[in-house]
Amino acid sequence: MRSLINITDLSVEELYALMDKALDIIQSPSSYSGSCRGKKIATLFFEPSTRTRLSFEAAMLELGGSVISVSGAGGSSVTKGETLADTAKVVSCYADIIAVRHPLAGSAREMSKAAGIPVINAGDGGHYHPTQTLADLLTIYREKGRLTGLTIGICGDLLYGRTVHSLIDAMSRYEGTRFVLIAPSELRVPDHITEKLSTLGIPFEETTDLEEALPSLDMLYMTRIQRERFENPQTYERLAGCYVLDSRKMRSARKDCIVLHPLPRVDEISTDFDSDPRAAYFRQAQNGKFMREALILKLLAEASLPAPEENVYSDPRFKCTNKKCVCAHERGIVHEVYYDTKGALRCAYCDELIEE
Ligand code: NCD
Repeated sequence: MRSLINITDLSVEELYALMDKALDIIQSPSSYSGSCRGKKIATLFFEPSTRTRLSFEAAMLELGGSVISVSGAGGSSVTKGETLADTAKVVSCYADIIAVRHPLAGSAREMSKAAGIPVINAGDGGHYHPTQTLADLLTIYREKGRLTGLTIGICGDLLYGRTVHSLIDAMSRYEGTRFVLIAPSELRVPDHITEKLSTLGIPFEETTDLEEALPSLDMLYMTRIQRERFENPQTYERLAGCYVLDSRKMRSARKDCIVLHPLPRVDEISTDFDSDPRAAYFRQAQNGKFMREALILKLLAEASLPAPEENVYSDPRFKCTNKKCVCAHERGIVHEVYYDTKGALRCAYCDELIEE
């Protein structure tokens, strides 16, 4: 069973094919209006969402399919102690495809192992959010005309921002990408990401200074400080509002430097910038629906194909202890690990280091 857990589950060719499909859907929506007749998507959202959930549901409805859903942490039998694996098995009896958002890293992966239908990761804690990246890629492609040769600034909460992690994984695969990672020192990108960048030889720099970075960028990806992921609320209070982009600051940016944001925004982009043609974030939200349509079509068409082989293994000596990982909460989970590019052992669910 093919699922989408990480953006790297899709090859570069598949990403281009999804973008072509989305562009075709935009051109002639009526030719797709019956493509999923008789099919159901189950949207299981154990964390708040506006865009992601509604765009999945709108996508399925536009394709002629229907939607069943659970929302809110208290809205399902998971609160009665049901495991995610059992939930996945049960939902597989009622639906044809699942989109799941859950606060624990690795939750979608755990569900995909038990489900009899494709599972789409709609955000697993502070880990990954591959379908936001699909929206981001189509936006970059439509706005810039290319995905190669871009200097990409990413600013804000790079530690907990799951959209950032998936975006970096995706853009690392296009030639000529250069990253400028702009964050306070407490919110730097996790080491499993910087380590991959170093091994792949992708140029990146880390800085705390947004204004200094701005003039060199082809695009800027702003993000919200992820309040819900902080263990200490005082740390959040200290870092909240650390970057605010506005029209004045954007005067030093290139005339064609687009600004993206996965939304929701708090105060990191001033509304005075919204009317600037470079503000692409609402177009980005719209692109998300078309890419989700393309993804649903692909995964349903490929539902009978086997899951690709993963280079992971389980050994009772190695257990993940990350409190934010599904491994620390799910009964009966089989811990799985992999060797990273430097030969260190990491959890296959959350990518945290298990042994150097
Ligand atoms: C993002 C998320 O949920 O990670 N939102 C979204 O899906 N568009 C970003 C965020 O919540 O800050």
